[in-house]
Amino acid sequence: MAVIMTQKNYIMKKQILFNSKKYFYIENFGCQMNVSDSEIITSILLRNGFNLSKSLKEANIILLNSCSIREKAEITLKNRLKELKNLKDKYTLFGIIGCITKQKIKYFLNKQKVDFFANPDSYKEIPKIIYSCIRGEKIIYTPKKKETYSDIIPFHFSKKIKSFLSITRGCDNMCTFCIVPFTRGREVSRDPNSIIKEAQYLFEKGYKEITLLGQNVDSYKWESKSNIDKYYKKHNKKYTINFSELLELIAKKIPFIRIRFSTSNPHDMSDEVLKIISKYKNICKHIHLPVQSGSNKILKLMNRKYTREKYLSLIKRIKTIVPECSISHDIMTGFCEENEKDHLDTLSLMNEVKYNYGYMFSYSPRPGTYAYRNLPNNVPNEIKKKRLIEIIELQKLHSIMRMKEYLGKEQEILIEGISKKSYNYLYGRNSQNIVVVFPKGFYKIGDIVKVKIQKITSATLIGNLC
Ligand code: 5AD
Ligand code: SF4
Repeated sequence: MAVIMTQKNYIMKKQILFNSKKYFYIENFGCQMNVSDSEIITSILLRNGFNLSKSLKEANIILLNSCSIREKAEITLKNRLKELKNLKDKYTLFGIIGCITKQKIKYFLNKQKVDFFANPDSYKEIPKIIYSCIRGEKIIYTPKKKETYSDIIPFHFSKKIKSFLSITRGCDNMCTFCIVPFTRGREVSRDPNSIIKEAQYLFEKGYKEITLLGQNVDSYKWESKSNIDKYYKKHNKKYTINFSELLELIAKKIPFIRIRFSTSNPHDMSDEVLKIISKYKNICKHIHLPVQSGSNKILKLMNRKYTREKYLSLIKRIKTIVPECSISHDIMTGFCEENEKDHLDTLSLMNEVKYNYGYMFSYSPRPGTYAYRNLPNNVPNEIKKKRLIEIIELQKLHSIMRMKEYLGKEQEILIEGISKKSYNYLYGRNSQNIVVVFPKGFYKIGDIVKVKIQKITSATLIGNLC
């Protein structure tokens, strides 16, 4: 723990905060993993006598759960912090948690006067850190140990329909563009006992769907001397467990909960996982399989560890083993040295796969990464933008094409909420993770219903109850 300084106004904070009820409020700036982390932090703080504030107004401790994946996310965080500091009185404590780089910590310490920082391995220390701040110390905590939070049942914010469940933390892949291995550290898999315990707890609480989360779920690997359960004892003498085995364990133990997972790295996805997806009805038929680029030259520069050919062969195996599976992607345009031919390779790969949907970004150099240090960011911004637009347009065409395949078909939908467009309509998702809108009938949120698809848009299926 590094204690940075003691200031007069912190002594004031001490007097005011020490004697008042401590209300915390968390804002998220990142991905699903950040949402899941906020639930872990909330649980830790509640256990330690802090109170969850439903509104920013009454909070005297504000935690900003940050993201560094692209520059835009960092700018959003900076602006939000400024805005909040104007809004709140000077006795409020501000902490930045989540994915934050050393450079940014320096910036926030010097320029924005943030009270404390906690990285993803030090969430258990947050209560202690807050008390140190109240005592008048400014803290940066850097733990030695990788933390999996196996013993913490997260506080679930959602409406008891679906929940995230993290199974790995960190990433070992070292894609050259990515800041995650620097902010979240090396990959660690969580104890399967605690994963199953949490999944069972969620089911008993009435949750209908869980999403197993990790930067790279397919590389999940846990080793132990003790056995997991009878099934496992019978099948695996070495007491190691990989992702396909974990998936099967959960699917068997909790057959009435829907299971999703994210994210898969094409390099690590095995046929065993595909067979398990196909074998169990409660495992959703959707795979998010980021490709990033269709050019072998760019994939190599990105250190993605697969080629275009290997990726396409995996897509073929998905379609053979799980024919009804939907596939989504992440694609990044304008990475270092990307020329027009590389871009055309990406478009042609998209034409071969015809993804159901995808997330598209233009490359944002991240200080500290291999690409930032060693590769030229030599695609002009206008070209990055132009290529991004072309990719988005092509994806729209493919999405519509894929949506048409559902016309006239019956889909099983888990109802998630009331449609934003009309109170008389509900929405939910099918197994393939596509949003479906349909008339309310007598159903409610959390029910599972059959809907026949009548109309489509590029992002939504519209149907009638069967
Ligand atoms: N610039 C732009 N996009 C990025 N991603 C990761 N790092 C960067 C970056 N430096 C994208 C990738 C990844 C997704 C989560 O974010 O496409 O799959
Ligand atoms: Fe980043 Fe690559 Fe790890 Fe994904 S797999 S988190 S892109 S380093």
